[in-house]
Amino acid sequence: MAFSAFRDYFAADKMEHLLTGNKFGPNEDIPDLSENVYVVTGGTAGIGFGITAHLLQHGAARIILLSQKQEHADEAKRELEKYENTGKVEWRQIDLKDLSQTDRIAKQLAEEQKIDGLICNAGEGFGKYNETTDGIDSHFQINHLSQFHLVRMLLPALQRTTGSRLVLMSSDLHRACPSSTAFDTQVLFVRAIVHRMENNEPGFQSNKQMGPWVNATHPGGVNTDQQDQAVEAYGKPAKVGVAVVRPLLKDPLDDGCRSALFAATSNAVPREKIQGQYVSRARSS
Ligand SMILES: NC(=O)c1ccc[n+]([C@@H]2O[C@H](COP(=O)([O-])OP(=O)(O)OC[C@H]3O[C@@H](n4cnc5c(N)ncnc54)[C@H](OP(=O)(O)O)[C@@H]3O)[C@@H](O)[C@H]2O)c1
Repeated sequence: MAFSAFRDYFAADKMEHLLTGNKFGPNEDIPDLSENVYVVTGGTAGIGFGITAHLLQHGAARIILLSQKQEHADEAKRELEKYENTGKVEWRQIDLKDLSQTDRIAKQLAEEQKIDGLICNAGEGFGKYNETTDGIDSHFQINHLSQFHLVRMLLPALQRTTGSRLVLMSSDLHRACPSSTAFDTQVLFVRAIVHRMENNEPGFQSNKQMGPWVNATHPGGVNTDQQDQAVEAYGKPAKVGVAVVRPLLKDPLDDGCRSALFAATSNAVPREKIQGQYVSRARSS
């Protein structure tokens, strides 16, 4: 994708944000979560760290973080001390590039008595084509396939938890693609799950009053390690591009986590039956 598409996209995103006023406040609009258990993929860095910090701030009973690097998990735990008792936060190492390891962790988590929210946020942003040991494009395996497997495995736990949420982090960046690319995998996945639940298909039967409430979200253009990945992958042109774009990007803790937290916690979701939707502009609850 040409750099100009990225630049225009991020500029438009910032402008739209300024014009529409994204009002769901992670500090003030999240309800009490003291009974709730969450699983957050990629919850140790960037937007995922923002999500974790606010879940903890609002008293979540337990938060299980799934990510790859021990040093990021340690750093996140240190930073989370500012919010609440980090004894409630548990880290499990997972490499989403490895299907059998992902399956092992998914099977462990499937034993949980209840899961109030599964937030599939982990993802690579930019990178050159690379295949995993499973022989699959790494970007596709990390961002989509492995997390779709987690979802399938944890769906029963979500279904037995009243009011539970399933949130798939997506990206509006697909809008910068040619108009013939009229899809986004997470959005289609969310719709497919809801369709199956509504039709009571085997394995998807759900009591509509219980949940899960299933939605995809877009965080906006957010200042995280993803921009560094672009520089690593594409060198000097990306370095110049990132230098131009970075000042326009949102802060992951104040802002980039809003839409996912809205989908994962807001009482407006069950009240307004927000189901199978693409939440790209979280608004006030
Ligand atoms: N930043 C943006 O502007 C933007 C825009 C649209 C959508 N998004 C989406 O938002 C999500 C979060 O992005 P971010 O900007 O916060 O990125 P980030 O700061 O790079 O964080 C990515 C997270 O994903 C985890 N992760 C990456 N590869 C993994 C693997 N193989 N196995 C397990 N965990 C892995 C990382 O864990 P480790 O640190 O341990 O590797 C980290 O916790 C992504 O899905 C991204 O595509 C971001």
